[in-house]
Amino acid sequence: MKIFLPPRIGFCSGVKKTIRLAELALKKGQQVYSLGDLVHNPEVIRSLIEKGMRPISSLDEVQEGTVITRSHGIDPALIRKGQEKGLKMVDTTCPYVLKVQKITKFLQKKSYQLIIVGSRRHPEIEALTATLSSNRVHVINNPQEVRFAPTFIKAGIVAQTTEGLDNFTNIIKNLIQRQKSGELRIFNTICRIVRERQSDVQSLANKVEAMIIVGGRNSSNTQQMVNLCRRMKVKTYFLEKETDLNLEELTGFEKVGISGGTSTPGETIYRIKQILLSFGKRKEYI
Ligand code: F3S
Repeated sequence: MKIFLPPRIGFCSGVKKTIRLAELALKKGQQVYSLGDLVHNPEVIRSLIEKGMRPISSLDEVQEGTVITRSHGIDPALIRKGQEKGLKMVDTTCPYVLKVQKITKFLQKKSYQLIIVGSRRHPEIEALTATLSSNRVHVINNPQEVRFAPTFIKAGIVAQTTEGLDNFTNIIKNLIQRQKSGELRIFNTICRIVRERQSDVQSLANKVEAMIIVGGRNSSNTQQMVNLCRRMKVKTYFLEKETDLNLEELTGFEKVGISGGTSTPGETIYRIKQILLSFGKRKEYI
């Protein structure tokens, strides 16, 4: 069995920053809380909990200490609420997410109807829409939902940073086909790192018989990679950790690719590669 990895794996810059800030606060010996899942990877969260971090779902659960917020962004009202309670709020919003927030504010200020491509319940979209005037914001998840979008004289469209490029493009195509007049300003706000990873996975999926994608079930960019591989009709396995690996299922594949989301540690991918290589060798000698 030959194993192929893409040129870029491991944490993205945003996830690295969030983990670094959480570990820094933990080293200072403070009581550290995370508001929600800091990153969308259960293994990473477990390791931070082992170091002393405590996840909370509401600021009402704590009276003192340091609260780390996630890289997807946070409603600014929650930062103010924490500060008023005397908590030390560490906002780790990723610069790519901040850029989407800036563009959407600009568009609303200029009276554009706002269309956001993403998932309504994703923390990034929840944080983004919390600061916008809701009657002029419409969130679309897939091309079929375009028919529910309002007609517009002028509109701006942005994407969740972890959105799939194909989905974003198809939604724009459908919008243009549905409404032939009107001004539509397009901002491709998919994060550069996510776009590079999607393109790496696409190239890899083209030269292997099976793809293993590793990442949290709740990780949007990992899910996008899985969808991309499945659309390419390559046999795709979605794992959260190496113990989810079913070696017997992989018997018979000559070429296997492995990749992971931006919150999947590179070491997990290397470990899976090693397991597969030793399994392949064992099989050869049976
Ligand atoms: Fe930021 Fe992109 Fe990572 S938006 S958190 S660098 S996936």
